[in-house]
Amino acid sequence: MSTESIQAAASVALSQHLAGKKIVVVGGKTGIGLGVARAAQAAGASVVLASRRIASVQERPELADFTQVRLDMRDEASVKAAFEAIGPFDHLVVTAAPDLGTWGAFMDESADGARSYMEGKYLGSWMCARHGAPKLRAQGSITFLTGGLAVRPKPGYAAVTSAFVAVEALSKSLALELGPIRVNTIRPGFVDTDMWSFLPTDAREGLKRQVEESFPARRTGKPEDIGHAALFLMTNPYVTGTVIEVAGGENLVPSLG
Ligand SMILES: NC(=O)c1ccc[n+]([C@@H]2O[C@H](COP(=O)([O-])OP(=O)(O)OC[C@H]3O[C@@H](n4cnc5c(N)ncnc54)[C@H](OP(=O)(O)O)[C@@H]3O)[C@@H](O)[C@H]2O)c1
Repeated sequence: MSTESIQAAASVALSQHLAGKKIVVVGGKTGIGLGVARAAQAAGASVVLASRRIASVQERPELADFTQVRLDMRDEASVKAAFEAIGPFDHLVVTAAPDLGTWGAFMDESADGARSYMEGKYLGSWMCARHGAPKLRAQGSITFLTGGLAVRPKPGYAAVTSAFVAVEALSKSLALELGPIRVNTIRPGFVDTDMWSFLPTDAREGLKRQVEESFPARRTGKPEDIGHAALFLMTNPYVTGTVIEVAGGENLVPSLG
């Protein structure tokens, strides 16, 4: 190996390091986003959590080491103002989920419900990228989040499935347009977060048991599993325009329904 290539490899290794980097996680206050935020912080980055409501130290003492910024991904003025306030940064991860206001049989849905989810998830991700990208430093990256429905639709989730597919298409388009900024998507399988708190306790525990018994990984997903994948996408300088599935093999076995 030549001295130049050793130096190049060493500089790649350095650039992979997240120490001192500034990461913005939209939706980072809870669930998968918090898993990403904690992983980035453990790697030495300073992390900004952006979402609709800032949690007080009394309410969430464990968030004291993070900076919080108000951002509503349904409101372009709010997204723009948030990134102006944040200033230059290194990596953007958008995990936020709008409330699942619309699900159920397609024939029972209204266009308003579908529009609301599409606007929250797809256009919200679009706006975070549009107003976050100008602030990204060289070697920056954007990571979006979708879900297994993008490749295996289930009855009752037409709007969610459509929004996920649109976000994955956006991710690839932006990898082309924003390069050398890298743009990727993580497609998680079941991850045990408060997103499932709408289920009664028995049903949630039953679902977790089914996941543990049927998914090839024989466990449920944890927010830190997604955090691990997000660090890879932030630090590998040759990965862009791709979708990484972190799903315990969910799509290899029959759907849980
Ligand atoms: N958990 C799973 O099993 C799973 C599986 C596949 C895919 N996913 C996808 O992963 C994403 C995150 O899931 P999760 O389980 O982490 O959800 P979660 O725990 O419910 O977290 C949602 C986060 O989004 C923020 N948020 C909601 N509306 C927002 C808005 N309008 N603007 C800005 N932030 C907003 C919330 O903070 P505020 O209330 O402060 O705004 C909250 O921090 C979703 O897109 C979901 O569809 C999840």
